[in-house]
Amino acid sequence: MVMGNLIGVLLIMEVIVSGFSFGADALSMGYYTMSCPFAEPIVRNTVTRALNNDPTLAAGLLRMHFHDCFIEGCDGSVLLDSTKDNTAEKDSPANLSLRGYEIIDDAKEMLENQCPGVVSCADIVAMAARDAVFWAGGPVYDIPNGRKDGRRSKMEDTINLLPPTFNTSQLINVFGKHGFSVQDMVALSGGHTLGVARCSSFKNRLNNADPTLDPEFAKTLSKTCSGGDNAEQPFDATRNTFDNFYFNAIQRKSGVLFSDQTLYTDSRTRGIVNGYAMNQAMFFLNFQRAMLKMSLLDVKEGAKGEIRSNCRKVNS
Ligand SMILES: *[C@@H]1O[C@H](CO)[C@@H](O)[C@H](O)[C@H]1NC(C)=O
Ligand SMILES: *[C@@H]1O[C@H](CO)[C@@H](O)[C@H](O)[C@H]1NC(C)=O
Repeated sequence: MVMGNLIGVLLIMEVIVSGFSFGADALSMGYYTMSCPFAEPIVRNTVTRALNNDPTLAAGLLRMHFHDCFIEGCDGSVLLDSTKDNTAEKDSPANLSLRGYEIIDDAKEMLENQCPGVVSCADIVAMAARDAVFWAGGPVYDIPNGRKDGRRSKMEDTINLLPPTFNTSQLINVFGKHGFSVQDMVALSGGHTLGVARCSSFKNRLNNADPTLDPEFAKTLSKTCSGGDNAEQPFDATRNTFDNFYFNAIQRKSGVLFSDQTLYTDSRTRGIVNGYAMNQAMFFLNFQRAMLKMSLLDVKEGAKGEIRSNCRKVNS
């Protein structure tokens, strides 16, 4: 009796862990176990090798996944190069400062040698972001795979990205449209624990004497901007380490972007910021949950997409 119940519970857990949906060719954990058993280690080793060589690319890989999923779903659209008839997302004048395309190409090449036509570029981006977070000291987590690659990538679609001038209401609204809670939104913003912003994204705060900005930190930002629009300012003191220092910085009114600082200014999110600043484990837990949700945004399953043979081009 007790045994029967236990088995019942285990079976339910199995279903929760292994199946997000039951259609043929749906996303699942361990999707490549049979078809390409070394897919995950190949991506992890490629990412590790690249980041050991250039730690700043960890932020690039995380951003790439985020941008991929927020435009047209997680379908590798961010990787497509422009063609003579189409300007792709990556060539948006907004310059998405995405970096790390070569890492995806390297992993893809190795995977095509091992198991041709099996591992999608969208999955490689999702795995690479996950592995970059872990490499940088962040949480380790599992994501389901089986995303298919899309065929559309249009510069115009990048207007769906988040401008650095957004306030909390606007952030809650846009993330909410994608199914994220306020807590998810703050946790995902914590991805700014990695990387830098360009002066062009925050210089408007300096001219208008933004009252939410610490005056001493404003001097630091001004100094950065003396290097021009492309000069880089780290979001926190440890730009290549995944930790909760980002939240400590915004508590000190030293958030780089308006859209960072607003999370502390606004009473709806300040408590969450304080919680993550105090308790890194809680940030990590909520971050991994939100990343899992993000990695499933509007995915193309089965026949709705393809497995590109070159991540930069749709199959002909
Ligand atoms: C975009 O940013 C990258 C990385 O800093 C830089 O190499 C590239 O020249 C920029 N492109 C444009 C069009 O500004
Ligand atoms: C946020 O920005 C929008 C658009 O500019 C504005 O209408 C709204 O009042 C702002 N909300 C807050 C809380 O500042």
